[in-house]
Amino acid sequence: MDKAKRKSKPTLNESHRVATSGDIEVSTYLEIAKEIGGEPSVSPKEVIPSAEREAIVVIDFGSQYSMLIARRVRECQVYCELLPYDTPWEKIAPLNPKGFIFSGGPGSVYEPDAPLALADIYESQLPILGICYGMQVLTKQLGGQVTPGIKHEYGHAILHLSDVDSPIFTDLPSSSPVWMSHADRIEEMPPGFTALAYTENSPFAIIGNGEGIFGLQFHPEVAHTPEGKTILRNFVYRVCGCKGNWTIGNFINDNLSKIKKQVGSGKVISALSGGVDSSVVATLIHRAIGDQLTCIFVNHGLLRREEVERTFNVFQLNLGMNIVYVDASQRFLSRLKGITDPEMKRKIIGEEFISVFEEEAKKIGKVDFLAQGTLYPDVIESASSGSQASAKIKTHHNVGGLPAKMILQLIEPVRDLFKDEVRQVGLALDLPEEMVWRQPFPGPGLAIRIIGEVTEEKLEILRGADFIVMNEIKKAKLYRQLWQSFAILTDVKSVGVMGDYRTYGYLVAIRAVTSEDAMTADWARLPYDLLARISNRIVNEVPGVNRVVYDITSKPPSTIEWE
Ligand code: XMP
Repeated sequence: MDKAKRKSKPTLNESHRVATSGDIEVSTYLEIAKEIGGEPSVSPKEVIPSAEREAIVVIDFGSQYSMLIARRVRECQVYCELLPYDTPWEKIAPLNPKGFIFSGGPGSVYEPDAPLALADIYESQLPILGICYGMQVLTKQLGGQVTPGIKHEYGHAILHLSDVDSPIFTDLPSSSPVWMSHADRIEEMPPGFTALAYTENSPFAIIGNGEGIFGLQFHPEVAHTPEGKTILRNFVYRVCGCKGNWTIGNFINDNLSKIKKQVGSGKVISALSGGVDSSVVATLIHRAIGDQLTCIFVNHGLLRREEVERTFNVFQLNLGMNIVYVDASQRFLSRLKGITDPEMKRKIIGEEFISVFEEEAKKIGKVDFLAQGTLYPDVIESASSGSQASAKIKTHHNVGGLPAKMILQLIEPVRDLFKDEVRQVGLALDLPEEMVWRQPFPGPGLAIRIIGEVTEEKLEILRGADFIVMNEIKKAKLYRQLWQSFAILTDVKSVGVMGDYRTYGYLVAIRAVTSEDAMTADWARLPYDLLARISNRIVNEVPGVNRVVYDITSKPPSTIEWE
């Protein structure tokens, strides 16, 4: 018997009613909340038996933030699955959910074919949290009324609590900023619901029925709602009664079994770059299937100083993986000759990478699977996330960019994760800290940090400048706090003076940004004396450079990389 089930069933609007499951006598979620208190108590590496697994299911109505909701639940150390709204109950029930979160979405519930939730979810009597469109869904299905709003509400609003006793409000201040993004509004709450909080424009900013069903008009999952995590935690722990016992150890364990089952006795290849994502994926797969994995390390000649050696030491010497190393620098450089357009550079590098990779894979013999370190933000940024395609800004080289011609099945174990989650997986796999905390480095490498044509001479200049930036940032102990910090070699030359001589040298730009997921970023307020040291060292130690500038633009409107 599930202790966190609601006392009574909600009444579904007749048109949405389907077969009901039997009534179960249970204690209320409020009593459970008192008992549990809700704090994760297990260490990240611990593996909890699957029989004890708690799950929250996020029902996806198409919001761009749906995966972010799943991530917030994982932050509570609770297993989470994101499922399309029309997933049949037979697939949901075996997950043994403790509660549901309905995501936002672009639709309007009063439109004829508006996506709605399965009646079985309401019939299950488990707690439900509806967010934005998800709130409108449950309002409509439980007999309330939703209408088109007179004006769109988009941006910050101040949330005021009216019923501070609700378990969803534990540890919440009586007023706090929230992020709104909606057009439709609740006109009439479903029977049995009351308004628990309001904003200036939304009298029903939070509604609840006192029996585990809540609706939020705003988005608790985004960073712009600072108390959003507390609300989600309260829902997961105090309303659904989760204990918080799902760990990275569980993620690893599940993936090891999944990979073993998927691969069987087949062979897997993977492109290894030394970046945290491909490193974590290679380590995970190696741990699952050992020598059935071969990693191909293509040196495209656009890597940074000492990069090849560092990667090799970890994977071949320390972890004993099968690695095929290919020095293809000259091939890439000759194809990049005379090319100045950023997208053209990316296209050429992508194509050439595929050719080299295919040639090397053929030498290995029959291969069945291709493993990739694709992350969730990569999927979004490259506009390849299926129906909800967003505008393409740059052609990322690691998403779906590998051999389309090779008929291989994809293994992408970290596709649903965000960068910091992948780092946690890396740490739990005992990868060296230096590798786990490595800042992201783009697939096309230094080619997109050299404005204009890429030449051997410019690569050497940029490697020198980049090495100094990295060295000084690490010495200042800022490396981990920054999302990225690097140098760009511009195609601007300017006049300088050195000793008694005139110089005419390159302008190097420094970029250092903070970010959570690279979708947005802010320029880092680096200390002046650190910037001064970097600048001094570059102009003194890197021949050909006589001026250094610091990039002070955020993303948007800029991007992190210059090309
Ligand atoms: P932008 O420049 O679009 O970059 O703000 C966002 C993040 O993505 C990285 N980036 C890439 N990573 N292949 C990659 O693997 C690529 O082609 C690529 N382009 C940009 C960039 O370094 C930043 O972290």
